[in-house]
Amino acid sequence: MSAPTNSLRGRLITFEGGEGAGKSTQIRLLAGRLAQAGVEIAATREPGGSPRAERLREFLLSGRAAPLGALGEAVLFAAARIDHVDSLIEPALERGAFVLCDRFMDSTRAYQGAMGKADARMIALLEKVALGDLKPDLTIVLDLPAREGLARAARRRGTTTQPDRFEREEASFHEGLRDAFLDIASSEANRCCVVDALAPKEEVSQAIWRLVEARFLAPAPQAQ
Ligand code: TYD
Repeated sequence: MSAPTNSLRGRLITFEGGEGAGKSTQIRLLAGRLAQAGVEIAATREPGGSPRAERLREFLLSGRAAPLGALGEAVLFAAARIDHVDSLIEPALERGAFVLCDRFMDSTRAYQGAMGKADARMIALLEKVALGDLKPDLTIVLDLPAREGLARAARRRGTTTQPDRFEREEASFHEGLRDAFLDIASSEANRCCVVDALAPKEEVSQAIWRLVEARFLAPAPQAQ
């Protein structure tokens, strides 16, 4: 859990946004382009990404942790994150891989902090406990109206799967989430880039690729 110290270290790219924003599709498309560019990829997700964290995911998304309240849930998301960082993310970054993570600390800030009303100072402390100095090198915020995202998520679920703990929240919760992610993006504009997720998926993918290429793959300027 240390800050980048050498140029061989990989990059942590996180994807954030409300429900049904297309994060997993975009991660798959970016992973394909990066692989073509010869970059090692580790695609992962939160909550989860390691066997122990996946067990916590099941508990959290079933709604069984909800009686603990938003701060209690945030503690469990942080516990899952500690294991995920230690067992998958940090080793991958040390190998030089690009880690593409579907949700990360900003989801805790938005879901448990802004919308769950857990104390922002506590959320910041938990972030510090779980991550130390680790921060994403780039966060893509996929932005779209909550209603459209929820409709997409419902189509993806079909008729046989029940909505999870957070999908079951009211429309106003999901509308607030959109603002919460946009607020995070504007308060950390160097780290976060907002991408319009209503555009066709190829256009969204192209926009993300341009950001990643310019930041991490563009050749260094030639010395005169
Ligand atoms: P997931 O099925 O991955 O949702 P999505 O496809 O929308 O990404 O479920 C993750 C859910 O967990 C999602 O509703 C957001 C929520 N979540 C939090 O509330 N806090 C967190 O810190 C994280 C990582 C996720």
